[in-house]
Amino acid sequence: MPEDSKAIVHPARTVRGVVRIPGDKSISHRYAMLAGIAEGTSRFQNFSAARDCQSTLDCMARLGCEWKRLAGKDEDDGAIEVHGLGPRLKAPAQVLDCGNSGSTMRMLSGILAGQPFTSELCGDESLSRRPMARITKPLSEMGAKISSSEGGRPPLKIHGGPLQAIHYKPEIASAQVKTCVLFAGLFADGETVVEEPIRTRDHGEIALQALGAEVERKGNVSRIRGGQRLRAIAAHVPGDLSSAAFFLCAAALFPGSQITLPGILMNPTRARLLDILIQMGLKVSVAHLEEHQGELIGTIEARGSEWKGGMIAAADAAALIDEIPVLAAVAAYSEAGLEVRDAKELRVKESDRIAAVAANLRKMGAQIEERPDGMKIPGGQHLHGAEVDSFGDHRIAMAFAVAALRAEGETTILDADAAGVSYPRFFEELETVAGR
Ligand code: S3P
Repeated sequence: MPEDSKAIVHPARTVRGVVRIPGDKSISHRYAMLAGIAEGTSRFQNFSAARDCQSTLDCMARLGCEWKRLAGKDEDDGAIEVHGLGPRLKAPAQVLDCGNSGSTMRMLSGILAGQPFTSELCGDESLSRRPMARITKPLSEMGAKISSSEGGRPPLKIHGGPLQAIHYKPEIASAQVKTCVLFAGLFADGETVVEEPIRTRDHGEIALQALGAEVERKGNVSRIRGGQRLRAIAAHVPGDLSSAAFFLCAAALFPGSQITLPGILMNPTRARLLDILIQMGLKVSVAHLEEHQGELIGTIEARGSEWKGGMIAAADAAALIDEIPVLAAVAAYSEAGLEVRDAKELRVKESDRIAAVAANLRKMGAQIEERPDGMKIPGGQHLHGAEVDSFGDHRIAMAFAVAALRAEGETTILDADAAGVSYPRFFEELETVAGR
């Protein structure tokens, strides 16, 4: 990734147009991993273009699972085919490089814990700083032997083998942890149960069911019996709502703006974002609701109106963890500002997202109060363009491109190529809807 890549974003007067958002990253990771341990060939349309999902596909290839991109009508339609090996993967000859992707490392570890071989997983500088004890603890309790670097950080070395089922109650709300344990549960003797403190995104459970596994779900509790076999599927990956959030927030900045986003994921464990945007003043309607392999999908139409701001706390902080950077980046323009609480997980994402948002907002002339588990951004502020940094974090790069649309003067985003971790064509797409 070129670390010296820069993007310059000029102010806009409005936001208008239709954007086709690439496939959901969370679902794409899960499909790629599960299709690899299924029987038969799976096909996924609109598979995420994210560099993170490429990391998952590359790791699956090193585990012996063949996959290829399918030539479609247009080269961006993102169709892939994955040849499943069944539950037993091949011992990798090389280290599994997860790049920047915490999802790859954490969820794939669940599958590797149940394999009769040793694998090593590493990541880039950012991933190497991220906490992995949250997955090594339950996987060790299930019987895997795992070593990690100091403080439970990557790289990981997993000696897989026979696993026993556990009833696991994670302390933090993390869909990656839940999914990791459920994936390991497929290989365990008995029934594995995950009881979450707050219900997190349920794409792992839905994908497992789509590939034929029985997963029982009640409230915050998910259960899976070991020894179930998966079968290949054909599926369409819904557009990523967390990527859509950047365009929705861009529309929110300008009264009279209008944006249409077809085919977006509407899973209720992710769609809290829309309620919050509506509360904050964006006019949102959803049309053409359909279900694909257990996931809801719909077309979002959004219109900018008064941008009021508000508060994100408790369960909302977990539900909106990926969208808080952009909501915070545009909060200074709102009437009442934004207060974020209970979001200390933001500090251990691809960057320390609280510190990164605060540093960039200050560079643009905003006031912000940084707190250990959140931040408070007063409303009614005028921002000016500045040189801001992505801190190597895709969501920070994109959040500040959106904030730049209403600033006075141009904004330069350093290491802007980081956006490709989830959305390689983001800057081009943003330009197509920015009215000047
Ligand atoms: C994800 C879960 C969240 C989220 C990440 C994707 C997933 O992470 O921030 O971008 O696909 O399960 P945590 O599980 O660490 O909260």
